[in-house]
Parts: sequence; structure tokens; C-alpha cells
Amino acid sequence: MIGSIINGKEINTSKDSMNVVNPYNGEKVEEIALASDDEFERAVTSAFDTFHHTMKDMPAHQRADILRKTADLMEEQADDFAEIIMKEAGKPIFFSRGEVQRAIQVLRFASEEAKHISGEVVPMDAAIDGDGRLGLVKHIPLGVVAAITPFNFPLNLSLHKIAPAIAAGNTVIFKPAEKTPVSAHKLAKLFHEGGLPDGVLNLLMGSGEIGEKLVTHDKVHKISFTGSLPVGRSIRKSAGFKKVTLELGSNSPNIIFDDSNIHEATNMLVKGAFAFSGQVCISAQRIYVQKSIYDQFLKEYIKATEDLGIGDPAFEKTDIGPMISVEEAKRAKQWIDDAVENGAKIATGGERDGSVLKPTIMTDVESHMKIIADEVFAPIVSVIPFDTEDDVIDYANDSVYGLQAGVFTKDVDRAFRVADRLEMGGVWINEISTYRQDNHPYGGVKQSGIGREGVKYAVDGMTEMKFIGVKLKDNH
Ligand code: SIN
Repeated sequence: MIGSIINGKEINTSKDSMNVVNPYNGEKVEEIALASDDEFERAVTSAFDTFHHTMKDMPAHQRADILRKTADLMEEQADDFAEIIMKEAGKPIFFSRGEVQRAIQVLRFASEEAKHISGEVVPMDAAIDGDGRLGLVKHIPLGVVAAITPFNFPLNLSLHKIAPAIAAGNTVIFKPAEKTPVSAHKLAKLFHEGGLPDGVLNLLMGSGEIGEKLVTHDKVHKISFTGSLPVGRSIRKSAGFKKVTLELGSNSPNIIFDDSNIHEATNMLVKGAFAFSGQVCISAQRIYVQKSIYDQFLKEYIKATEDLGIGDPAFEKTDIGPMISVEEAKRAKQWIDDAVENGAKIATGGERDGSVLKPTIMTDVESHMKIIADEVFAPIVSVIPFDTEDDVIDYANDSVYGLQAGVFTKDVDRAFRVADRLEMGGVWINEISTYRQDNHPYGGVKQSGIGREGVKYAVDGMTEMKFIGVKLKDNH
């Protein structure tokens, strides 16, 4: 049994525990001791006290060293991390390895950023009575950051919160997703091996209730959350004066104009819609294809989708494994059935076997259907024809979400024009919406969220400004 880690000590006995199971075959991966109310309070107190007596004065070079050493250690243990992710999340092993490589890079970016948090000199003499004054802006840590993380990238999305928080000199309470706490536990241990003092990173095992309590606790200064829109909305309501970063949902559009390389777009969008069974916030959910190439694209896209290897995530050749649970696969299948009842057609896929939902392409969809309007978070994509640039901009922007989009065209003017007109946090040209590099700003407009990650930008959100002014002696 493994458990929470509070002030450097593991609490692995508890009257309440739960099993983590492999969503593909139901095999037990680990037993988790759940945190009690008392342990919750101790974790918050530990993070709060450690911020005041240790972390806020830790020099940047030391924070950078810890992050770099943790990256080196993760590189040595990369296979173990990948195996855990594969088992607890059901992510195909090839993609689990990719996630670990990204996580190592995030730690290295954070290590570099720790040394570049700088300030500003304010031109005080720009104001009429400002002569003889010096104004400085420092960027100081916030205090205690709650990192509430999702199951879909259990390692890398946790690090997108924890590493910038540490780089900026904060302490952290880490509440991982209930279904994927094993990689979280290994990560917390690794940070300690990397030299992180006790109490800087406190891991709390348990349900969403822990997250709710963190959001309203007086000693927590910032909430950084990745997850669903309803939970994000409730965090926003309850967080009061706390700072929040929210990475929420999306129904990402990808637009293919008739001058694109159809073959390339097809191959990219197979990955874009179905990688990790579509359980990626920026997964391609709506593909808009210009009418003159619609039939050709659909035919190639169906063929490429049907060639995907489906099955056990432990196998090297598996492209599509399970969804995170049978319940989630049932929920997604129901969304397909609802759409079909309302006139949509299944071009391929649509069948469910336990937690595995076959990669599914839908056509003849309407904008009100859940598979279009809501975040589908499953291996379901809709292919929709369009006539003109104006039409497709209207379709793509007709959403409460605005996280990331993809645009395929060889016309440079059109590419940048469309990128400007799309209401998104990010737009990729000749790349799928699903592509993310860990050092670019990542976050949404509209109801896709608040704030940005992408290490440098996350570090900004983990600090606040402090102004220090001096009235200098008159030398004359
Ligand atoms: C997400 O699902 O929000 C993260 C996608 C990624 O980091 O690739």
C-alpha cells in the first residue's frame, strides 16, 4: 500500500483505502491509503510553514539544481514511470514513454526558468513629482499552490503545475486524479531524492473532496487545476481572492482547405483525434473539410482509422487502448447513440467492448449534438463539409470553448487571416490542434479556462508583483 506524503513522511496505513486498477484488464495496480481530515490539515500546515521557514528564502540556483537533479533521476527511471502510466491510465506504452520524455523536458525548462525570474525598474521620474525616487518591481512567490491534476497526462500535466511552482519558490499540495495516483507517488518520492526539502511538496491521496477543501482553505494561495468545465466553474466561484489557473475543456476544430496536402492532413488527424482514445483536451473533435475535397478526405481518413491497432496498452504496436473506465466508455457510446437517433451517421467505429471504444468517425452531424457542442473526451471525431472561409470561421467559433485549433492550407495569407479570426488560446497552422510543445503558452479563451501554462508562462502565474520604492537623498 502507498499513501500520502506529508512533510516528507509517507502515510501508508489508513482505515480508508482504494485500489487502482488497469482500465484495460481490471488487474490491481496498487492499493492507496486515503488521506484523513487530520492528514489534510497537516499537509496544508506543512506546506504553509515550509513556505515561510524554508522556501521563500531558497536561492534560485538551489531551486534550479533540485529541478535539474529531479529531471536527471527521472531520465534514469523513465521506463518505470512509463510502465506505471501505461498500467494506471491504460495509455499505450509508446505514448506513455512519450509522456515521460516530455515530463523530463518540463523539469529542465523549469530549472532554467528558476534562474530567470527578474523584475523591472519603474521610470519614476516620468511623473511630475517623481524626481529623486527609485521604483523596483520584484516577482515574489505566492505561498502555497494547490496542484489539482487530471488522469490523462498524470505525470506531465502534474509537472506543468508543480515544476513552475517550485521554480518560483512556492510550496505545493499535490492532489492527483483518483484513477492515476501511482505515478504521482513516484514523482513526489523522486523530488525528495532530487534534494527537495521535506514539506515543499505534499501529496494528498483521495477524492475530489480534497480538491474542494483546498479551494476554500485560508492557507492556500493559488489553485492550479486541469479538468472539466463544471469543476472549473465551481472552483472559480469558491476560490474567493485566491489566484486560479484553470485548464478546462475544448471541442477543438481542425480546418482543411482544398489546397492542403490531404494525405499529410489525414495521417496527422488520425493521431490528432484518436491518440490516447481522444482523452486529450485539445484532441481533434471537429474536422471541417472544404467541399471539393470532402469525399476524398473522408475515404482516406476512414481507411487510415481502420488501420489502427486496438487492444492491450502494454503492446508496442497498440495505437488505441482503453478509455479510463468502462463507465466513461459507456458514456461516450451513449453520446454516439444520441447523435445517431438525431440523424448523424457512423462512418466507422461506434462499437464498445468493455472500456475500449473503437475509433469512431461521425458524419451528418448538427451543431446542437453533444458530440459537437460538448467536450467529447473519447475517440469520436466528426467530419463536416464547408463552403467558404467565412462559413468555417463561423462554425469553428460557434462554441463555448476556445483552447486550440488546427488550420491546413498552403496559402500563407489565408493561414494567418484564419488564425487571427479564430477565437482560441492557440492556433496551429499545418499542424493538428492536438499538438502541444511544453514551452509555448497553453490555455484557453471563453470557457476553456483562465491563465496559461507552458513553463515560462506558468511561472508568471506562480508569482505576484511587489513594488519597492525609495526616496533617494537629494545630492545637490
Ligand atoms: C491536455 O489534455 O490539456 C494536455 C495536452 C498535452 O499536454 O499534450
